[in-house]
Amino acid sequence: MADRFQLLKESFRNLRNTGSVARSSRYLCQAIAEKIDPSKAKVVVELGPGDGVITQYLLDRLTPDAKLMVFEINDVFIDHLKTAFAHEPRLILIPDSATEMGTYFEQYGITTVDYFVSGIPFVMLPEALTIDIASKCRNWLPKKGLFIQFHYSPLLIPLYRRVFGNTDTDFIPLNLPPALVITCEKE
Ligand SMILES: C[S@@+](CC[C@H](N)C(=O)[O-])C[C@H]1O[C@@H](n2cnc3c(N)ncnc32)[C@H](O)[C@@H]1O
Repeated sequence: MADRFQLLKESFRNLRNTGSVARSSRYLCQAIAEKIDPSKAKVVVELGPGDGVITQYLLDRLTPDAKLMVFEINDVFIDHLKTAFAHEPRLILIPDSATEMGTYFEQYGITTVDYFVSGIPFVMLPEALTIDIASKCRNWLPKKGLFIQFHYSPLLIPLYRRVFGNTDTDFIPLNLPPALVITCEKE
């Protein structure tokens, strides 16, 4: 399993796709996990788990019969996640881009996703990719299902509002850098 230093090095090496140099703080992880109502969360999908710091908080929040499917494209993080969560039967690790989510949902018989949690650094990626992934998430959510995204700037709030019709933002000062949790509800 990669150690903390190797994972940090990987974040620096791939800054465009990882979008951060420090892992999310427990305050940020908690703020995200608390958005999830365990009684309604039978299928949760995390996009861009990185080293799995938020993943663990999500698993701690979910019931034993829930599923957490995670999409990650970075090989170092994929190898780390495979080892770190080897004994977690609720976790389905997909070593592929979030753009391909539909293929995997069909393969696993998933017809609806109760919550999406995303750490993909869309601010640094093409707008068309953000719209593509956010729209796909919207399509797979049931009515009132949530898309939860964290960012370090408010830049993309108007984009999420265009896709979902609404956004709700929480400020998390105790994170490096301070973060925003942007939540959108499927109307
Ligand atoms: C900011 S890191 C998140 C790390 C971790 N969740 C945290 O909070 O510390 C963003 C992650 O998104 C992944 N990523 C970027 N584009 C992606 C895509 N299209 N599909 C899946 N994962 C992606 C990167 O490889 C990276 O691990």
